Amino acid sequence: MTAPARTRGTEELIRAEEPVLAHNYHPLPVVVSRAEGAWVEDVEGRRYLDMLAGYSALNFGHRHPALIEAAHRQLDRLTLTSRAFHNDRLAEFAERLAALIGMDMVLPMNTGAEAVESGIKVARKWAYDVKGVPADRATIVVAADNFHGRTTTIVGFSTDEAARSGFGPFTPGFRTVPYNDLAAMEAAVDETTAAVLIEPIQGEAGVIVPDDGYLTGVRELTRRAGCLFIADEIQSGLGRTGRTLAVEHESVVPDVVLLGKALGGGIVPVSAVVGSREVLGVLHPGEHGSTFGGNPLAAAVGTAVVELLETGEFQRRAAELGVVLREGLAALAGRGVVGFRTRGLWAGVDVDPALGTGREVSERLMREGILAKDTHGSTIRLAPPLTVTGEELREALGTLEKVLTS
Ligand SMILES: Cc1ncc(COP(=O)(O)O)c(C=O)c1O
Repeated sequence: MTAPARTRGTEELIRAEEPVLAHNYHPLPVVVSRAEGAWVEDVEGRRYLDMLAGYSALNFGHRHPALIEAAHRQLDRLTLTSRAFHNDRLAEFAERLAALIGMDMVLPMNTGAEAVESGIKVARKWAYDVKGVPADRATIVVAADNFHGRTTTIVGFSTDEAARSGFGPFTPGFRTVPYNDLAAMEAAVDETTAAVLIEPIQGEAGVIVPDDGYLTGVRELTRRAGCLFIADEIQSGLGRTGRTLAVEHESVVPDVVLLGKALGGGIVPVSAVVGSREVLGVLHPGEHGSTFGGNPLAAAVGTAVVELLETGEFQRRAAELGVVLREGLAALAGRGVVGFRTRGLWAGVDVDPALGTGREVSERLMREGILAKDTHGSTIRLAPPLTVTGEELREALGTLEKVLTS
């Protein structure tokens, strides 16, 4: 008889990563080995409520049965073709995603950063081909404190020194203005402007919700200036805020919507640029592509995600449970919480710095069975799967209270 495989514990597995994994993350000291719904289990068999949900990549919870079934079905038939050939899953994915977002066309990619890069390329091409901006003069206006991903072009217009320092030289053509400041945006936009690129809610910055009217103002301003409005809904979109898209809170329709994270159902990376025919129609064969973008497995899972969102159930849950989240945090105001912002099932919580950094609070929450993560400083982000129950959410808020007041 062979001896059973030796299982390694938390400490040993974390130590094993140290010499062989690039140190570009500083994870909480928990080693997850299985998960279901809103709950994960570590290698020691301890259970945790997941209040981060993969930065919104797990909006439907871990291993949602409909998504797992769609993936299994597709795995048994066809997984990859490249775009050298058509595959029988892509048309339905594009049709249903375009219909869900209320736009004409879809450019399928894989990660969020790729969707942002693709949106930038499309906007520049549109500026030259349609708007008539002189060659290589196109500009894009972005917001300070943005987070759009980690490629060299994207970190080049980040204002976070840790994200950009040491990675230059950067791509030119970006102008940065303060977020939530329409006058500054108006001053930065001119005849060379291809697009304004913003997050409707800034997630990594600490779930910063702009003033009412800001998104409407951006829409009006970009229309007046004859440039595109690109909404990066990679974290805010697909149900998180109580609507399919966060821009819907102001009934705003951008020219281009960038999606990612939850579009892959927590199973595979799936992202997309969704836009009008006038904009996405500027691309011709050979001008842009991706070996994996639009692969049949991604399309099958993405279609199943769209199907879940078509029911409206998840948007409704996020809106209803968002009230529980907001009221729970309001009750903690002055009791360890010095500020918070919520929209749907998404919150940025500023804890009293005297009680510790966001990291320290997250570690204490982890020891109490709640997984959350700091954004920076003393701010933590709460973004549970949209499948979380009211009871589970109250339990998490109770644990936060205990951690902050004991
Ligand atoms: C708004 C936004 N855009 C883009 C990205 C980048 O996505 P990815 O990590 O899949 O490249 C993120 C990731 O956090 C994000 O929050």
